[in-house]
Amino acid sequence: MSLTRSARVRALAKINLELRVLAQRPDGYHELRTIFHTISLADSIDIAFTPARRTSIDLADDLHIADNLVTRAARAAMDAMKLTGRVEMRLTKKIPMGAGLGGGSSDAAAVLLALPALARRILPIERLRELGEQLGSDVPFFLLGGAAVGIGRGTELFPLPDNKPLTGVLVSPGIHISTAEAYSRLKSSLTTESQQNKMVTFQSRVWDGGVSTAACNDFETVAIERHPSIGAIQRRMLRAGASMALMTGSGSAVFGIFPGPAQASEGLKVFRKEKAFRFSLVSRARYRALWWRALEEHITAKVWPPQDRRER
Ligand code: C5P
Repeated sequence: MSLTRSARVRALAKINLELRVLAQRPDGYHELRTIFHTISLADSIDIAFTPARRTSIDLADDLHIADNLVTRAARAAMDAMKLTGRVEMRLTKKIPMGAGLGGGSSDAAAVLLALPALARRILPIERLRELGEQLGSDVPFFLLGGAAVGIGRGTELFPLPDNKPLTGVLVSPGIHISTAEAYSRLKSSLTTESQQNKMVTFQSRVWDGGVSTAACNDFETVAIERHPSIGAIQRRMLRAGASMALMTGSGSAVFGIFPGPAQASEGLKVFRKEKAFRFSLVSRARYRALWWRALEEHITAKVWPPQDRRER
């Protein structure tokens, strides 16, 4: 009898409906105010676990990135569970990379959530969050999903009520932006608007539920200066009928939210020569249901995914 347990999980992308950068902190990270939202665009990971005397971690993908975040996440989960075994993974990428969509972070979070279930172990959510933070600033958000305010490094999260399942169009201009470089380019422009003003406008965006024509991403101006095609996509998105159009994360992808699914389908046609996707916002309830369905046969705990008091 084989002791291998396996599952196919989906790692969803995120967009930032608002992203304000306040200042660089003593630890080198920047203090953020952001609204994250999971969307229906997703990578897929086949993951299998077999108990063994020694740990081996294999990742098959078409990317060949040394020290991939997925491999590091698997290693971190195995160490935290104090377990040895064979972990075999196949990653099928659909989320554009270096685009501000959190693809690598979501893949890593997916491994942190799936591996303990396959190994029939429970890692408490606080432990998963710590492991996530060590892997990257966006990873903890993907343990939660739905809509959430992120503050601090982006790892202190406050769940927001679920949005309507709005539909949008996402365009990836194929420009790879390094997050670290984007932050360092931002430095000179950080003082153009007072921090107090940023916090006040951020708060009103949270009250709006995040979707607003006045939405703002502080990385946008610098990114558009260097890559004017990002600004052009944004203008075309608005002309195509989007009610808001914004760059996500540190770029380079641009998303537009449309009044309804039919308008989004029409909007998508404008970008038929680009790498473009139609997506819908994925609520926390739906995010959890997706996870539950993927891992149902392996989950023994009564409440899953692991939750804390605030999120119940
Ligand atoms: O945490 P993560 O590895 O995703 O961050 C990549 C880089 O982005 C960091 O090394 C840092 O330079 C920058 N960063 C930042 N402030 C944040 C998040 C990331 O300066 N809040």
